[in-house]
Amino acid sequence: MPSKRPGLGCRSNCYKACKVIEEPANRNELSEEPSRTLEESEGETFFDGVPLEKIANEVGTPTYIYSAKSFKKQFRELEKAFKGVDSKIFYSVKANSNVNIISLFNQLGSGFDIVSGGELHRVIAAGADPKATIFSGVGKSVSEIDLALKAGIDCFNIESAPELDRIIERSRVFGKKPDISVRINPDIDALTHPYISTGLKENKFGVDRASALKLFKSAQDSKYVELVGIDAHIGSQMGSEKPLIDSLLRLLQYAKEIEAQGIQLKHLNIGGGFGVPYKGEKIFPLRKFATAAEKIMNGTGKQLRIEPGRYLTANAGLLLTRLEYLKKDNNGKHFAIADAAMNDLIRPALYNAWHQIWPVNPQAESVTEDWDIVGPICESADFLAKNRNLSISEGGLLAVLSAGAYGMSLASNYNSRNRAAEVLIENGTARLIRRRETIEDQLALEIIQE
Ligand code: LLP
Repeated sequence: MPSKRPGLGCRSNCYKACKVIEEPANRNELSEEPSRTLEESEGETFFDGVPLEKIANEVGTPTYIYSAKSFKKQFRELEKAFKGVDSKIFYSVKANSNVNIISLFNQLGSGFDIVSGGELHRVIAAGADPKATIFSGVGKSVSEIDLALKAGIDCFNIESAPELDRIIERSRVFGKKPDISVRINPDIDALTHPYISTGLKENKFGVDRASALKLFKSAQDSKYVELVGIDAHIGSQMGSEKPLIDSLLRLLQYAKEIEAQGIQLKHLNIGGGFGVPYKGEKIFPLRKFATAAEKIMNGTGKQLRIEPGRYLTANAGLLLTRLEYLKKDNNGKHFAIADAAMNDLIRPALYNAWHQIWPVNPQAESVTEDWDIVGPICESADFLAKNRNLSISEGGLLAVLSAGAYGMSLASNYNSRNRAAEVLIENGTARLIRRRETIEDQLALEIIQE
């Protein structure tokens, strides 16, 4: 059996990695350190008990690899944090949409937060009950609404007046009366990257107070919808509990206003957004938030709903890639060219996101330098990491850590690259849960004239 080496981060002379392991910002609050599930034994690196080299040899690279143990641990941790309050977890499917992972969360008792008909199809394909699904998003089409009405989802999270009109109309056609919630835009700064901040008035999400009051009235007057809740989602990768507490207090204040009009609400939904450590940064103080939420919610008779995505998945996954070339030109710049690219993991290009790079089984001939880890795509934004002091060699494997959330679900075919394979490790066994795409898969959709 491989031995656990908590100081593993030091092996590659990675200063930042060492910091992660040795000086966690607040150990009590760490949800999952990026390299906690990595182990090393006799020069071999294992992820959740399986040698990464073996997976690379059998499945090829680039490949996403996930740990079922880690998904489960995160889910149980959340459940535990909120056990003092009537609450329900709705896994936000967009973070990682593989049907096998949806199925895993279904078995753990999770509900699902979806934003498209496609995600609803995935929930159904995973064998989950659509009745435990809530449907968010600003642009629900008629066909998506019809699909959700037929499937009998738990609740539509309404984001605008015309959307409510459309849902009322489609419910009338189907003779249904679905539960709805109104998404509030509380104009609260989530203090996160601007691209993933969603609760400010300049963001397209939710409605302001005046519009919300009108929506509540329309819902109350309609025979075709039942207003049962209000919701908000102010942003992702939050490091502080304060904006989320402010948002929950705002929801409660709205709830009181609605209830004064004779409508009884059943739930307040605070959305997702709990941050995770990517490099030992201060992360979301879950227990502090849960304690505050408990105080706010208890006595209200309402359920607290949460829609976590990243918290459940980010540190349960890595992207395994092989180095094609080491290129030491361009006035002293050192580029390590990997077979994974921005089409596989777009987070560094899109948000300048930092992912820990882990050289797997470095060889004697490995060269320690400051490297930019880049992909083969024709864009200068095609990088996985910049200026990392690493010991690597051509043909060697790298693990890009914390890639379980918004990795594969944002992958594309840019430069006609086939999307990566996905592997799930469960009880010490690695299982292919998505085969590598082929060029035939890509071309199958294109209509070629005779
Ligand atoms: N609920 C709603 C309505 C959402 O829009 C989102 C994420 C979530 C829940 C889950 O948020 P989480 O717990 O994962 O923070 N691609 C970006 C993240 C985009 C998040 C979009 N909405 C990234 O890679 O950082």
